[in-house]
Amino acid sequence: MNCEHVAFVGGGRITRILLAAWERAGQLPERLAIIDPDAVAAERLTKLYPHARVCTDMVELMQDAPVVFLAIHPPLVVQAAESLSRCLHADALVVSLAPKVTLAQLANHLPSNAHVARFLPNAASLIGKGFNPLVFGGNWEQPARTRLRQVLQYFGECPEVPESQMEAYAILTAMGPTYFWFQWQELRQLAAKMELAATDADHALQVMLQGAIELLFQSGLTYEAVVDLIPVRPLKEEEDLWRSVLTEKLLATRKKIRPS
Ligand SMILES: NC(=O)c1ccc[n+]([C@@H]2O[C@H](COP(=O)([O-])OP(=O)(O)OC[C@H]3O[C@@H](n4cnc5c(N)ncnc54)[C@H](OP(=O)(O)O)[C@@H]3O)[C@@H](O)[C@H]2O)c1
Repeated sequence: MNCEHVAFVGGGRITRILLAAWERAGQLPERLAIIDPDAVAAERLTKLYPHARVCTDMVELMQDAPVVFLAIHPPLVVQAAESLSRCLHADALVVSLAPKVTLAQLANHLPSNAHVARFLPNAASLIGKGFNPLVFGGNWEQPARTRLRQVLQYFGECPEVPESQMEAYAILTAMGPTYFWFQWQELRQLAAKMELAATDADHALQVMLQGAIELLFQSGLTYEAVVDLIPVRPLKEEEDLWRSVLTEKLLATRKKIRPS
């Protein structure tokens, strides 16, 4: 990777996802600095990455780090940006992974020439197959954009999107896998109850899911035509309930993560 030194504010799930993605791509930064008040989270990371430096303050964290990820929950981001602003060097790239906190809100707490971006990976970024919307703030000249893209390229697609769409993507793509995984896992367990070998069932399910995705999204058939291809739908009566749960819960979550 072009960037051999990366700092993280927050050493939880998304930090582990990004580090694992670089590791799988053989691109783990040689220098890694992390700050996290949760000793368990920090220890978990240093077990995985013994060369990671666990820091106790932002000055120690930043040193000459060219890129820093704000990998913390939205209510903590502004305060972290404020502490960061005192030790941010001019070329450093600041990447916030949190929904809800806008670039304008971040800019209020950082030096006026700071390079600030928002980035929204998802779990599949771990295997380089994430959908990772990206928004650049105001100060990004082309070389800085290229520098950041070189760091992010191992996570999958990184499309530039309007900032106003970030929370919609948080619902659709960052949290999206969770709407399906539990159902797929239940099918795997059901396959075992029906005495299918796990490898056979896993293969069959993967081919079925990939085929179903391509049929719906890429065949040119309408949703109605696709659904009409299968006459027996054992869950048909429950579909409306599931639809309303999905809509209600996801819209409520979107309301919660909307910028204030
Ligand atoms: N996980 C994903 O798939 C994903 C995808 C896209 C975006 N994100 C975003 O990434 C951010 C972090 O999510 P996550 O999944 O990594 O959450 P997480 O697993 O809960 O990790 C957050 C970590 O930050 C620590 N922390 C709390 N206050 C801190 C501070 N002041 N300075 C440094 N670290 C601090 C937390 O410690 P405590 O546990 O002690 O509070 C925790 O270890 C969120 O804004 C989330 O929306 C996550």
